[in-house]
Formats: sequence, structure tokens, C-alpha cells
Amino acid sequence: MILPSQRSLFDIPTDVAYFNCAYMSPLLNQAIKDGIRGLTTKSHPWKITSTDFFTDVERVRNLAALIIGCHDNNIALVPSTSYGIATAINNIAIKPSDEILILEHQFPSNVHGWHEAARSSKATVRTVPHSKDGNWTNSLLRMIHEKTKVVAIPHCHWSDGGLINLSLIASALREIDAYLVIDATQSLGVMPLDIAAIKPDYVVASCYKWLLGPYSTAIMYVAPQHLDGTPIEHGWANRLGAEDFTSLANYKSEFQIGARRFDMGERSNFALLPALAVALQQILDWGIDTLYETISQMTSTIATQTSALGFRAIESNQRAGHFLGLTLHDKMLTDIVDELAKQKIFISKRGKTLRITPHVYNNSSDINRLCEALALYV
Ligand SMILES: Cc1ncc(COP(=O)(O)O)c(C=O)c1O
Repeated sequence: MILPSQRSLFDIPTDVAYFNCAYMSPLLNQAIKDGIRGLTTKSHPWKITSTDFFTDVERVRNLAALIIGCHDNNIALVPSTSYGIATAINNIAIKPSDEILILEHQFPSNVHGWHEAARSSKATVRTVPHSKDGNWTNSLLRMIHEKTKVVAIPHCHWSDGGLINLSLIASALREIDAYLVIDATQSLGVMPLDIAAIKPDYVVASCYKWLLGPYSTAIMYVAPQHLDGTPIEHGWANRLGAEDFTSLANYKSEFQIGARRFDMGERSNFALLPALAVALQQILDWGIDTLYETISQMTSTIATQTSALGFRAIESNQRAGHFLGLTLHDKMLTDIVDELAKQKIFISKRGKTLRITPHVYNNSSDINRLCEALALYV
């Protein structure tokens, strides 16, 4: 099903054509309202009860579980992808002979921690190069062997949407008992993810892009076999009995059930969580399959029109449907992004790629304006 433009749910002026969801999505109008209401509760702290520390937390956990397709006991609330990756690293015993695979030019939040872990355990990080045919899955499969301990990858590359077939990678890893850690920031909430088939070890996604949430919120999936792991910080709220504020100093060694042990400190953010809940609920109401189909149709319209202008894009079967990366050739203006921004058309440039990432707030007028503007730069 293709959704009509949902622009009225956002505060986007008619003369703004925003194609930069992979950078940062706008908040829904209702998320702003609920976020402000949440923030305002702090002007009357006498009304905030111990229950309030847990209600929105569990509501968001439940919505996140529906989006990921798992039980809410497998969801932790974290502030960022790098935090989630640090949690995964903290729970994987890495030996000197082990290899960790990442992709070339992968987003740093899923890179630095692995280099650090490899340095301290004398293991090796191997980078899968970007192949000419754009097929990340084959390149990865060629580099997976018995020394591979962890494959830490996204579902699609953040610079141009280059797609990875996670099911194929996961089944190769199962044969050698290696870990699959996924940074789903550029895909969760817009692209279907079959957790039951893939069975990853950890999945983390920052919410401020395709999950339409506020900055400093992220959700993390932890597989059932890792639920007895060690969190990277030891707060009070994820210990058993934390709901009873009168006995917090009866220190408990037991954690709350499931992945709650991995929740960040002060996860009960009264302003951010209500806004995030609105966003996650709206995504579920639209449906992830519908969002993917709708946005894929937009990128393929743009791909057709821009290819007629001479722009080159990755083959549609090698890229995620919600991304369009157009390759810049040397003669093209380097300041094309700034030039478009002057016309209130917003895209981004990552490496030599113009990254175009629409969402359901875009409409056909935005698409026409973008293609007409790009025509002037070839
Ligand atoms: C693939 C990917 N992962 C993660 C992030 C954000 O990471 P963090 O939440 O650690 O700031 C980004 C931001 O651009 C991203 O593109």
C-alpha cells in the first residue's frame, strides 16, 4: 500500500523540500506536544510519583518491541548507538586470534569500540572493502571464516544505502558460532527486519532518524541467550524492587527482568520518552511495510528522473529502498548541497555520494523541485 503524503502531521513549511531523514528526521507535531507536556511535569515535581519513573519507560519498551518484532523483555533503553555497541562489546569475550569484521567507511559508532576492544585483547579488526559491483553481502561472505568472532554491520550503508542481506550473513555466522551485532540506525522503523529469521545477538538503533524520535534516545535488542550479561553502568532503576523508593538502600544484586539490566541510568526521561512513544506508535499505525513501499516508490521516481539527467545511482536491488545515493563525478560542483539548501531543498553529501532520503512528509512537489534543481548541476 502506498500512503498519501503525511505532511500535515509535521511542521514543515511548503517551501521546504526536506530529503535528509538519514541525517535527522523532524518530530511529529503530536510528539512535540507530548514532549512539552512531559517536560512541564517537572515544574510540579510534587506530582511526580515513583510510578512515573516506570510507566513511559515500559510503554516505550513495549512499542520498541513491536517495531523490532520481539518480546519487550529483549529491549533495553539506551541513549545512543555507541552506548549499545559498548554494551555488546562488554559482553563478548574476545581472544587474540579473533577477527572482527566491519564495513569500509561504516559509521564510527560501530567502529571505534571494536578497534578499542581489538587493541586491548590483541585481536584484529578487518574491514570489508567496498566492491565495484556494490554487493556488500558477497564481499562479507568472502571474508567470513573460522577466525571470525564478530560481524558488526548495519542493514544498509549509511552513506548510500548499500544493502546487506542479513539472513545470509547470519546463517554463515551460525555455522562458526560467531556473533552478529547490527547497527540498525539507518533502517529500523522504515525497513522490515526479520528478527526471528536472522536471530542476531544485538541490534541497536538511534531513534532520531527513521524512528522519528528525539535526539539522545536509542533502543537495543538483546538476544535471549545474552540476557544474563553485564551492563556498562550500574544504576538503581534496573535492580529488582526499584519501584519501592523506601527500600532502595536495601541493595539488591538481582536485576529487573530481561534486557532491563542494560537500560542506561536516568532512562526515565520525562520529556523525551513521551515524544518517542508518539513516534513509535505512529510508525506502527502506518506499518513498516507500508512505509518502506511508499518511500521506495519516492526514491525510484527520483532515481528514474535523475538517471535521465545523467546521475548514476547504485542498482535498485543493491540499495535499501528508502535511500538513494547519486554518485558525483569530478566535473560536478562540489558545493551542490549548499546551493540546493539556498533553495530550501535539503539533501546531504557523504564521500562522493549525494544522499537523498525522503520520508512520508515529502510530496510530489518536493520531488519535482529536487529533480528540477539537480538538472542545473549536470
Ligand atoms: C549508521 C549510524 N549509526 C549511528 C549513528 C548515530 O550514532 P550515535 O547514536 O552513537 O551518535 C548514525 C548517525 O548518523 C548513523 O548514521
